[in-house]
Amino acid sequence: MKSVSSRVTCLALSVVALSSVTACVDEKIVYRDRELFEDPPTAAAEFLGYTDHDTKLTVCGNCHIEKQGLWEETLHASAWKGLQDSGHAQESCEGCHTVNQLGNFTTAEGGYVTTADARYEDVQCESCHGPGLTHVSNPNDATRPLAPLDVGVGATTGCGECHSQAHHPFVEDWVQSRHGDAGHVDYRTREGCSTCHGGEGALLAWGINTEYIEKGQGANVGITCAVCHDPHGGPNAHQLRFPIDVPDINENLCMKCHQRRAIPDEGSSRGPHSPQGPLLLGEIGSVGWTPPNLEYQAGSIRGTHGSSANERLCAGCHVNSFNVTDSGGNFLVTATGHLFKPIPCLDANGVPTADDSCPKTPEARYFGACTQSGCHGSAEAAASVLLIAQTRIEDLAAELSGLLALVPSSEFSTTDGVYTVAEGAKFNVGLAGFESSAVHNPFMTEALLTASIKIVKSEYGLAALSGVSLENLIGTPALR
Ligand code: HEC
Ligand code: HEC
Ligand code: HEC
Ligand code: HEC
Ligand code: HEC
Ligand code: HEC
Ligand code: HEC
Ligand code: HEC
Repeated sequence: MKSVSSRVTCLALSVVALSSVTACVDEKIVYRDRELFEDPPTAAAEFLGYTDHDTKLTVCGNCHIEKQGLWEETLHASAWKGLQDSGHAQESCEGCHTVNQLGNFTTAEGGYVTTADARYEDVQCESCHGPGLTHVSNPNDATRPLAPLDVGVGATTGCGECHSQAHHPFVEDWVQSRHGDAGHVDYRTREGCSTCHGGEGALLAWGINTEYIEKGQGANVGITCAVCHDPHGGPNAHQLRFPIDVPDINENLCMKCHQRRAIPDEGSSRGPHSPQGPLLLGEIGSVGWTPPNLEYQAGSIRGTHGSSANERLCAGCHVNSFNVTDSGGNFLVTATGHLFKPIPCLDANGVPTADDSCPKTPEARYFGACTQSGCHGSAEAAASVLLIAQTRIEDLAAELSGLLALVPSSEFSTTDGVYTVAEGAKFNVGLAGFESSAVHNPFMTEALLTASIKIVKSEYGLAALSGVSLENLIGTPALR
């Protein structure tokens, strides 16, 4: 909590007491009553950069001590050193490794680009927040330089101005992913949906009530970079806001959203909605309809993919970067993993695409997520295990659908206040209908389907049908 009254006092004090040794403090902001910076060169276009280059003290960080402390530890704070150490530094590289108009609302050139002054080295606060002279001269609500949450290919603001082009096309990949595409923009602001489908809603749902340009404007900001990544850094690798290696649906970054309806809502006929988190972890009772005859009564049915054998869990399969080279071994592009595709289809050059229509073969797709960690011996082996598991689950789901087609429709009434065996079994058919259930947790999915088949047979006297080919029944009823 900010202590407003003390801040106001400080601001008043500072005007008259520049030489005073006292500084005013709240938890996040300290008001320094001393000179913070040397006048920036006119050509810098009001960018301030460092107060002290050697200690990496930004002008902003004099007062915003909490942010300064976090940012110092990020790779942004050593972007200049990274560039120099590479041995390939040249003028064309400098823009993205220094403070200037890239990344913020300003389009007029400034900072390092126009001055080559060392105070503008590294990706500092103003890279995202824009030039700070006005604010620092008179820090208040009207002058505060807000950063954008939004991002897009070709946008003149935001992370994508630097995290783009062949060596790091994060924004180009992300915008094709379902987190970034404009497919369902109306859900981003709709009540009850925005907490997962929109950037602003997600941050608020996570208790992150910070200030940025689009906030409160009703903007359709998607699941942008700064939703998953904390722009100021923090305890998690790669500046992620939440860990990816914790097997807990309320702590894990991906699972925080990928868990809308994994178990039946007994007052509704709707099937599962983003059940991936709970399914991967396979706690009994947390995913699917649990048939009373399920053989495992306690604990969990967790596959290898949800265990410590796959430490990065969702990201272990869905977020992997690698370099694509041409047939002569020359660098073409970095695949950033930000399509979020575990086995992406490849174009003629071997570059991952967002198109999902190719066959699930190692020739057509990248299977590196399955092989690189040493889990599967080869891409062929992984593709074949996938096919086998998917076929087995499809067969079980088809059998269960066939049986449910013989159950009277009154058993599926959602208005009678009774949740029947048939309704539960139908929910499990829906779970198996996610193609990926065979990967996310084949054991759990099979156990639920097998137990559902048994209980549907006994409950509705359909046992006599076992052994009869159900093929001609499959797909007839509107169960899916
Ligand atoms: C002299 C101290 C001081 C410096 C230096 C300073 N700020 Fe601030 N800043 C403040 C104060 C005080 C506020 C709170 C204004 C208010 O809420 O009325 C603030 C507010 C902000 C806010 C809005 C946050 C909020 O909760 O409303 C942002 C963003 C911000 N500053 C960014 C920066 C950046 C970027 C720099 C460097 C260019 C910077 N500040 C430099 C004192 C400072
Ligand atoms: C001015 C250009 C610029 C802007 C704007 C920018 N970045 Fe960066 N970012 C870089 C550079 C350069 C590096 C690499 C620094 C190094 O390794 O030397 C980097 C590194 C990172 C890393 C660390 C990668 C790792 O391996 O840990 C993350 C995460 C990141 N940026 C996220 C973001 C996000 C999120 C935004 C927007 C909120 C953003 N960046 C805005 C230039 C920028
Ligand atoms: C379009 C903006 C941009 C330009 C231009 C740019 N970089 Fe970078 N650079 C980045 C970003 C963003 C990252 C962080 C990417 C990541 O973490 O994957 C980065 C990271 C790096 C890194 C550290 C991470 C690594 O890959 O080892 C080095 C070294 C580097 N760049 C060197 C260069 C050199 C040399 C040039 C010029 C030939 C250059 N950069 C030009 C944006 C840029
Ligand atoms: C890579 C881009 C980036 C960099 C670098 C960056 N910020 Fe931010 N900043 C943002 C974004 C995006 C937000 C809004 C989302 C958030 O707070 O996580 C923000 C929010 C803020 C806020 C508002 C916090 C609140 O509680 O409302 C302050 C203050 C701030 N930044 C100050 C700083 C200071 C000081 C630095 C440098 C030490 C800095 N930022 C570096 C992008 C950045
Ligand atoms: C849905 C969440 C999510 C979104 C949205 C997202 N990222 Fe990431 N990002 C990740 C995860 C997960 C990793 C991998 C972390 C790991 O494996 O440790 C990652 C890694 C990175 C890295 C470091 C990895 C590397 O290969 O150098 C950078 C840089 C980065 N992201 C930038 C961005 C940028 C820029 C955007 C927006 C265009 C973005 N991210 C959007 C989740 C996300
Ligand atoms: C802020 C909530 C949120 C977070 C965090 C999040 N996702 Fe998502 N994800 C969504 C939403 C919402 C969609 C569907 C968007 C749409 O279709 O409109 C989605 C879509 C996807 C898709 C595409 C599904 C398809 O059918 O093609 C994949 C894959 C995915 N997410 C994986 C991940 C991974 C892996 C992580 C963690 C690194 C993650 N997500 C983090 C909300 C989130
Ligand atoms: C708890 C988080 C969460 C909430 C709340 C949520 N969703 Fe989703 N939704 C997701 C995730 C994650 C996905 C992507 C994964 C998937 O397709 O299974 C998704 C996928 C979808 C899809 C499927 C996209 C497709 O084309 O395949 C639709 C439609 C959808 N949501 C609509 C809604 C609507 C409408 C609401 C509000 C009434 C809503 N969601 C609320 C997390 C959520
Ligand atoms: C062992 C690798 C692996 C792990 C771990 C994994 N996935 Fe998947 N995921 C896949 C594969 C393979 C597909 C299917 C892709 C295809 O068929 O093109 C998939 C599909 C999806 C889809 C598309 C909708 C669906 O369910 O069919 C979403 C969303 C998704 N995964 C999210 C997640 C989330 C969130 C996690 C963590 C809880 C996760 N995945 C863990 C491999 C994995």
